[in-house]
Amino acid sequence: MRKIRINKYGRAPMDEGNDEFYSYIKDLVHHPVVLQMKKYPHHGNTSCYQHCLNVAYYNYRICRYFGLDARSAARAGMLHDLFLYDWHTHAAETGDHFHGMTHPAVALCNAEKHFELNELEREMILRHMFPVTLIPPKHKEGYVICLTDKYCGSCETADGHRPKRLYRSFRSFKRMLKRVFGQNYAYRDYDLSSVKAAKGGDFVSLRKRPSGKWKKASGKNRRRR
Ligand SMILES: [Fe+2]
Ligand SMILES: [Fe+2]
Repeated sequence: MRKIRINKYGRAPMDEGNDEFYSYIKDLVHHPVVLQMKKYPHHGNTSCYQHCLNVAYYNYRICRYFGLDARSAARAGMLHDLFLYDWHTHAAETGDHFHGMTHPAVALCNAEKHFELNELEREMILRHMFPVTLIPPKHKEGYVICLTDKYCGSCETADGHRPKRLYRSFRSFKRMLKRVFGQNYAYRDYDLSSVKAAKGGDFVSLRKRPSGKWKKASGKNRRRR
């Protein structure tokens, strides 16, 4: 069984996989077009960039665990919402009321302009909104991104609120994550400091829980671990 070390923040898994993850997405996360996603809010207080980074990480971890194409999964995760506008005001500004259905094609178009994508990455970006978009993915990695995107989006939306109720809807997915990440697994945002990483800093140490953003449950409402 794969060993998982515990980091100083508590229960987040740390192993050589985090460095491998970074090596897969290194050219994407520092690219000026991808960095533009930091300007646009996505779910709650989370930027589009941070959301994509979270999805990329969870894609990578799950696909690695199941022996799927973890590299393509990480890269597609980082690019899957590269639509480069604020979707909260998009409908009023453009009249496009179907952002949920149209943005995967916009993201794919933007991604193809700047990066070479393989067939699997294209499919993952284009089909990540299934079942909102009706055509299902053909590959297992495509279903993984559908799940991680919804899971990360839900956790990010719940940021600043007690996440317990929301988590209840994801019990089966959470059980699967526990098998992948370890029994004491809990959702974490990724914090990628581009300066540190560009200087060759330890990417593993950049993964941390944003303090004070989750309300702590207390008494009878304490979250079960
Ligand atoms: Fe999306
Ligand atoms: Fe997304």
